[in-house]
Amino acid sequence: MSGCPFSALTRRSFFKSAGGGIGVLAASTGLGSIATRLANASEKSTQSAGAVVPHDKSATIPFWDQHQAGIITPQQAHTYFASFDLVAKNRDEVIKLLKAWTEASARMTEGQTAAPLSKDLSHPAADGGEAIGLSPSRLTLTFGFGSGLFSKAGVDRYGLVKLRPEALVEMPKFHGDELMEAKTGGDLSVQACADDPQVAFHAVRQLVRLATDVAQVRWAQTGFASGGDGSETPRNLMGFKDGTQQPKESEHDHFVWVDKKGPRWMQGGSYLVTRRIRIALEHWDSTDVEFQEQVIGRHKDSGAPLGQAHERETLNLAAVDKDGNSVIPDNSHVRLASIEANGGAQILRRGYSYNDGVNFTAERWPPWRQGMEYDAGLFFVSYQSDPRTGFIKMFENMAKLDALNQFVTHVGSGLFACPPGAKKGEYIGQKLFEMV
Ligand code: HEM
Repeated sequence: MSGCPFSALTRRSFFKSAGGGIGVLAASTGLGSIATRLANASEKSTQSAGAVVPHDKSATIPFWDQHQAGIITPQQAHTYFASFDLVAKNRDEVIKLLKAWTEASARMTEGQTAAPLSKDLSHPAADGGEAIGLSPSRLTLTFGFGSGLFSKAGVDRYGLVKLRPEALVEMPKFHGDELMEAKTGGDLSVQACADDPQVAFHAVRQLVRLATDVAQVRWAQTGFASGGDGSETPRNLMGFKDGTQQPKESEHDHFVWVDKKGPRWMQGGSYLVTRRIRIALEHWDSTDVEFQEQVIGRHKDSGAPLGQAHERETLNLAAVDKDGNSVIPDNSHVRLASIEANGGAQILRRGYSYNDGVNFTAERWPPWRQGMEYDAGLFFVSYQSDPRTGFIKMFENMAKLDALNQFVTHVGSGLFACPPGAKKGEYIGQKLFEMV
């Protein structure tokens, strides 16, 4: 039927024409400098890591690449994360799913529907359609493999157990963990990030649909990272700038990407650790700002390390006050998380705030509030070349000593091996399945 509303449109083609209009507007209204900033941002978008850049909704992030996109890609404003339990009967079904996911992802990151749409309206459409007309919004889709892909409850379901990387350990139980089964683990993960929440959700919805009878959603998490126009470090729900200190680009090969020491199929990939961390916002809001700053170890307004003036200054961990006490307290978050306190360890953080309404909660710290409290906090997302020398090493100590623990509770967790990127014609994780 030629009158089909979907048939003539792809998301990309729609936006291309809209984008042309914006260019003319910028040139004719003196918005040139903003346009230049946006252009620079999209140019940098495949290179700079953990950086914040002005949001350019028309930009696309290449899907086919040496590394999966969405790891060192400058952070988009929204995420929709989903973890899956595999119910596939055999390895071929898993491979078929990964092929379908790769194909659909490459299309959607270009601003297209998950699959070409038919003109025949007498069947369900191949795409829900809710992203038609929306810009690509720098959508990235990043896939990960949990330990359950390799073996579950001692069963080698897909003949992959021998290929499980040593680094894909079972996460130890940390001091204070209150993990919910329903928010933890999973055999596969997909992290969608985009500057438009509907674009991110749309992408995961289509992938979930493609997984029918092969993988079922186990848990999902939305998140947002608001930093104005994107040119500043976003503030988390505690009101502090979060994401200032990150590994430098020159350090990614060491701290973010798996190198030649890792299994061949993981080289160029990275390990993802997620933690759903609830923040007792009611308690935090009734705490003096001075004390809040002692807890974090940075000034709330500027984001500068305590006793220092600028956000980007290196932490002066040796500074002491007139009584000989550390200016950046010994149990402050940034000191305990610092490179120095962790024998040189670093991770790339890519977290998002989350807000899931309210829940009945009994706090575990004074003033031991009980009642309906915000179910909101930080969906902590980190990438590293090895979780044993990254998150696990770092958090072991922080879980016991960090002053922040009075306000936060880890309620969900995930560890996934994210394989390298795929070349056009390949599928995500292909090298793993070729090694069987
Ligand atoms: C709700 C929980 C958390 C909140 C609110 C939070 C907040 C912050 C803030 C405000 C900073 C200072 C600005 C910056 O450098 O980004 C920071 C730094 C940092 N955080 Fe967290 N964080 C949380 C959990 C964690 C966890 C679980 C880890 C890892 C185990 C972690 C690792 C780091 C690291 C590595 C830094 C940089 C430290 C440095 O200056 O060298 N954070 N965090």
